[in-house]
Amino acid sequence: MKKWSIASIPGDGVGKEVVPAGQKVLDTVAEVHGGLSFEFTSFPWSCEYYLQHGVMMPENGLDQLKDFDAIFLGAVGNLDLVPDHISLWGLLIKIRREFEQVINIRPAKQLKGVTSPLVNPKEFDLLVVRENSEGEYSSIGGRMNKGEDELAIQNAVFSRKASERAMRYAFDLAAKRRQHVTSATKSNGIVYSMPFWDDVFTDVSKDYPSIQTDSQHIDALAAFFVTQPERFDVIVASNLFGDILTDIGAAIMGSVGIAPAANINVNGAYPSMFEPVHGSAPDIFGKGIANPIGQIWTAKLMLDHLGEVELGEKLLDVIEETTTAGILTADIGGNYSTEQVTNDIINRLRSL
Ligand SMILES: NC(=O)c1ccc[n+]([C@@H]2O[C@H](COP(=O)([O-])OP(=O)(O)OC[C@H]3O[C@@H](n4cnc5c(N)ncnc54)[C@H](O)[C@@H]3O)[C@@H](O)[C@H]2O)c1
Repeated sequence: MKKWSIASIPGDGVGKEVVPAGQKVLDTVAEVHGGLSFEFTSFPWSCEYYLQHGVMMPENGLDQLKDFDAIFLGAVGNLDLVPDHISLWGLLIKIRREFEQVINIRPAKQLKGVTSPLVNPKEFDLLVVRENSEGEYSSIGGRMNKGEDELAIQNAVFSRKASERAMRYAFDLAAKRRQHVTSATKSNGIVYSMPFWDDVFTDVSKDYPSIQTDSQHIDALAAFFVTQPERFDVIVASNLFGDILTDIGAAIMGSVGIAPAANINVNGAYPSMFEPVHGSAPDIFGKGIANPIGQIWTAKLMLDHLGEVELGEKLLDVIEETTTAGILTADIGGNYSTEQVTNDIINRLRSL
């Protein structure tokens, strides 16, 4: 019997509703498989935890997490309790950075049975590889002066090592998909980092002669995500560009509530972390209507990462059976609850 030990961090808001749903589905996947199990250990780290303890996680929090096979996280953020820069940097970004989760992957495809807001969507299936350790999300900079002279400086950081690592990851994924990588750039406006990014992309692409490539400025690329998403396979992007593109990816799928994501540690020194794209959705928290599919599809990415690729594929097929049957939460046009959607997925898994 294979046993995977998973650290579970529901976090804030709807994270507390969709993480238990995801765990129930994973337990069912294990039950159906018969030869594996998940052992979840739940951590209460959240904005409420911050109010009680003055920190988002204990000082030895990372130590407590480091030996798990993976981390399954919901969402972090409750602006009524804690400013976002404290909650996100104190937990989510801390884990991503300290555990060297240098790659963020976010697929977007048209799920059967879910209506895209695009009027005439062709079938799209794309995957954004986002550099997750540096770029525009750096802590280098500062604020100075007051009043009229007040100013802020935020430095973007682009290293060859991290850029190349993200690009190679994208090329390796494209080799298993439709053999195409698009680079998100802005070298016509950002004159140092983006021409550098382009040079690294050109260098890396030489090692993958069978993969087709193109480079698109981020503004045009964002527009193409809306007008022709079907033309993309794998897209590699810096931290900020990847973040924005993947929200568009989620939007054209029909809802941020169904979009999955994974933060990957590529050197094997620490666990990877799996969390949906959406946040804590305070506007719907407590109503039992949060879409659990983002978290459950994220569980599929975790299965892939743990080497259970076939199980992951089955889980995604079952998610699409549920959406095709019209068992949908309100964000994608239905009136089913979080629990009803989750139970439908569980029942379909059991009858496989
Ligand atoms: N990875 C993360 O933990 C993460 C990501 C984004 C935002 N946040 C935090 O979450 C808080 C709220 O942020 P926001 O409102 O900008 O983004 P959000 O993703 O929480 O919500 C945006 C919109 O999407 C809807 N939505 C989100 N998840 C849904 C789901 N599962 N089912 C149905 N509808 C869903 C919400 O109801 C809302 O209308 C903030 O504190 C923010 O910093 C955290």
